[in-house]
Amino acid sequence: MISYTVWSEAGGVGKTTMSVNLAAAHARRGQRVLVVDMDPQDGSITHHFGAEHLRSDPDVDNIVRHMVERPKGEFDDLVVSAEENVDIVPGHNMLESLERNLTRAAQMEEDMHDANYRWPKEKQLRRVLADADVPDEYDVLIIDPPATVGQHIYNSIYATSNLLIPAELSAKGSQSVEGLRDVVDNIEETLGDIEIGVLGIVPNKVSDTNVQEEYQERLSGQEIPIAPVSIRERGSMLSEAWKNQVSVFELAENDDYRDLRDYEEGTLEKFDELAAHVTEQFEQPEAMP
Ligand SMILES: Nc1ncnc2c1ncn2[C@@H]1O[C@H](COP(=O)(O)OP(=O)(O)OP(=O)(O)O)[C@@H](O)[C@H]1O
Ligand SMILES: [Mg+2]
Repeated sequence: MISYTVWSEAGGVGKTTMSVNLAAAHARRGQRVLVVDMDPQDGSITHHFGAEHLRSDPDVDNIVRHMVERPKGEFDDLVVSAEENVDIVPGHNMLESLERNLTRAAQMEEDMHDANYRWPKEKQLRRVLADADVPDEYDVLIIDPPATVGQHIYNSIYATSNLLIPAELSAKGSQSVEGLRDVVDNIEETLGDIEIGVLGIVPNKVSDTNVQEEYQERLSGQEIPIAPVSIRERGSMLSEAWKNQVSVFELAENDDYRDLRDYEEGTLEKFDELAAHVTEQFEQPEAMP
């Protein structure tokens, strides 16, 4: 299964937007896609796909209950269909207290075992997805986490092993990109037993190609690959998609929405290319033993 977390420590760089449209682009390739929302905040992918009606009901079953081994039902019943071939596990307000819930669950589990037993808080999402046969049921798993490092990120990384990193190549964006190798190394060190694959940095909201080229040159000195595809500044089209709670592909295809301009169609192709690029990286033959 192709699995990755779309993450950057910088807020508002386009993680959720990229997750939505990559999910749709994978689906157009015939891949079955599951998106998991790990972001406790409003404005998450759940909202973007119009699946948030149960978010604030404290009694409803949700992914956090499954992570702390107190599910109220089956995993399959959490899954909502978002667009053709795109399913989503919606976010829930309990994600706000994920850290606390995991700590409490760990204490309870560890009290029931001998002194050396450790219940790994950071591996619970992976356990839930594996138990639900997600790797067999889906071709692609995409997780949309919050920006801040913590259990949301740790669980997302354990569940996917790979990161795709949107970056705004402005002064603000470049700072977070330049420290990226260190950030990834630190997470690897904290987690201890996982190697994080960085699929690439994807330049997003690109408006000035000169600035873009300058940064691209600076970043090429980094050990982190830059994806061969960048996404241009497309505020108008993307806010239209956000408002209507659809991907840009659905926006283009459905007559209920405004017609796209030619240059906006070009951005759809970029999302297609990005999904193809990501897919290729998982198709490379393993090194011969
Ligand atoms: N290529 C783009 N061109 C113009 N605007 C964009 C582009 N990508 C994203 N945006 C806009 O930037 C804003 C933030 O995007 P988004 O919510 O996807 O970021 P995020 O990284 O998920 O944020 P957060 O850190 O809050 O989770 C949104 O208004 C979105 O429409
Ligand atoms: Mg987001």
